[in-house]
Amino acid sequence: MTLTLAQMAVDVLQTADGQAKTDLSRKYAKAWRDFRAGEGPNIEIGTATPPIHPMRPEKPELLSPRDVPRRRPGSDAGRIALLHAVAHIELNAVDLHWDIIARFGHVPMPMGFYDDWVKCAEEESRHFNLVCGCLEDLGSFYGALPAHAGMWRAAEDTAEDLLGRLAVVPMVLEARGLDVTPGMINVFRSAKLPKAIEALEIIYAEEVGHVAYGSKWFHFLCGRDNIDPKDAFHDLVRRYFHGALKPPFNEEKRAEAGIPPDFYWPLTETLEKENP
Ligand SMILES: [Fe+2]
Ligand SMILES: [Fe+2]
Repeated sequence: MTLTLAQMAVDVLQTADGQAKTDLSRKYAKAWRDFRAGEGPNIEIGTATPPIHPMRPEKPELLSPRDVPRRRPGSDAGRIALLHAVAHIELNAVDLHWDIIARFGHVPMPMGFYDDWVKCAEEESRHFNLVCGCLEDLGSFYGALPAHAGMWRAAEDTAEDLLGRLAVVPMVLEARGLDVTPGMINVFRSAKLPKAIEALEIIYAEEVGHVAYGSKWFHFLCGRDNIDPKDAFHDLVRRYFHGALKPPFNEEKRAEAGIPPDFYWPLTETLEKENP
């Protein structure tokens, strides 16, 4: 029996091991691509009940962000910690993209919506695999260090609000990735580690697409419901995102991804006033 896309998503979410999770994610993404190209069995979207929290491996230990030790990026230990944090973000992103498919199956959306998030999930899976390869080259592995516990909070907060999910996950969190990745690439350039530079450059290029999909479907839903996208974005980020948006912003890449400055700049000021 062929699983529905929503069941595939739940299957990925319920797989704990990072390698197993990303293998499954890539397998299902290929099945979806084959179906959409007319080369594989039909896959229905379906509905399913995703877990509140995705399954995660026993390691890394998850700590509150303030308890995760900081290390200097100019040292081997610092570079390993940085890659470890990226691996954790990528694994979380795999789950986030499958979760949006599973969790909002009841909201009718065009097929392109599913194409986009399946593609993102597949790319995040490859990002995780690439970064794990870099960690191994430096004598480490995903799970060797503690990681941030709070990564799933945005998903929980927006579990009932697709527009809120799009605002906070791709258009705030993934857009933040565009702001900080060039600095990370420089860290590995200084250390002359070509494999890590290459991995981060792939991530940087593909993440523009993820933010763009977020913006595209956010605007689609606003248009369908006849609401102003900028006002809706400000309301939803204020409601669901805890903390101010932090400049400096990568305005060029944000623009490429379809997020204009008047979406994010007003949120730095207001939130800072509200949460000093
Ligand atoms: Fe990624
Ligand atoms: Fe992403």
